[in-house]
Amino acid sequence: MWFNALFMRWKGLLWGSFLEELGYNSLMGLKRRYRSVFVLFFLGWSFALYSGDVIRPIPRHIHYDRAKALLGKRLFFDPKLSADGTVACVSCHDARTGADNRPVSVGIHGRKGGTNAPTVFNSYFNFRQMWNGRARNLHDQASLPIHNPREMGMDKNKIVRYLWSDPTYRKAFQTVYGHSPTFAELTDAISEFEKALYTPDAKFDRFLRGEVSLSPLERKGYHLFKTLGCITCHNGINIGGNSFQKLGLIHPYPHDPHAPDRYAITHDPRDINVYKVPTLRNIALTAPYFHNGKAKTLDEALRQIAYYNLGYRISPEEMHALKAFLQTLTGKHPSILEREKP
Ligand code: HEC
Ligand code: HEC
Repeated sequence: MWFNALFMRWKGLLWGSFLEELGYNSLMGLKRRYRSVFVLFFLGWSFALYSGDVIRPIPRHIHYDRAKALLGKRLFFDPKLSADGTVACVSCHDARTGADNRPVSVGIHGRKGGTNAPTVFNSYFNFRQMWNGRARNLHDQASLPIHNPREMGMDKNKIVRYLWSDPTYRKAFQTVYGHSPTFAELTDAISEFEKALYTPDAKFDRFLRGEVSLSPLERKGYHLFKTLGCITCHNGINIGGNSFQKLGLIHPYPHDPHAPDRYAITHDPRDINVYKVPTLRNIALTAPYFHNGKAKTLDEALRQIAYYNLGYRISPEEMHALKAFLQTLTGKHPSILEREKP
């Protein structure tokens, strides 16, 4: 029994982003042939993860073009970029948390979307954008909600006409880009604004820099985060956002054929229920959780991910400690939202 549980945990660990990149199939082939080498290698990798700082702090200052970002901020808050004039980016990515607190988002004419809105805070650090990574970067991403009929439902040309018709936008684009508004520059300005939406100086980042210590409970939570194997998928600067992984690695998660998983892009059955690992930064603020918003509270999300992905049932004490650790990941509110006026 204990062996089985341990094996499950290892299997969870095994799927670390690093191993994923090497190619699952070739690894499994290797595993069969060189079982003992594999086990040694795997133990070494677990140890490296446990002892090293595979989580990096967010830099205190990130360089961005302030003029572009402030223009992007105005666009991000402007509902006139939507077909019925009621929905802006900020309607679903609010200024407090970068997400909304609904299970799934609501777009123009009250239309419900199919997925939970991830936070845009720190999204600049993600290796891809969207739950299944269908946008390569923030620049490519920005046009998707604008055209999505369930979100802003707007036409490219109509937006450009609107920007042209507004003398203050015309002037702003002229100053920043040296000519009249174009769609490419609209997405450029928005993505520059999103780059400025970073949340530095979380308690955990200050701990990594050696400036503060964690409380015993927070330390216990961090210890669990490493030993249970959470860190194999949630690591790097965003504590996630840098690999695709399966939801339901150990116990299968129910499959919704309309879900925006990797399978929707690749049609490879191995990609069913595979998603970009979400960031855990500011995670205490962004309930509900998962791509479908079905986990209403952080407790529920932790219980489910531990069960589905690690085959592990978290005890109440462990839950308490894990949550205390996750709360140290709340950073400073982005300064561009605090003081800088568009
Ligand atoms: C109607 C609600 C809604 C509106 C309006 C909206 N979004 Fe989103 N946003 C979402 C949802 C839902 C997702 C996740 C979609 C998916 O992956 O299936 C998302 C994903 C994103 C992501 C990816 C984050 C990540 O971690 O992968 C970024 C960046 C983003 N939106 C920026 C914007 C910008 C910029 C605008 C305005 C041009 C905007 N959004 C308008 C709901 C919305
Ligand atoms: C095998 C990789 C993997 C492991 C191990 C793993 N996670 Fe995750 N985690 C994911 C993926 C993928 C998702 C996204 C699932 C979805 O929304 O469909 C996720 C989602 C989450 C969420 C919800 C985030 C949100 O914004 O909706 C939390 C919280 C979370 N994980 C915490 C943990 C903790 C704590 C552990 C350890 C007990 C853990 N995870 C272990 C891959 C993993």
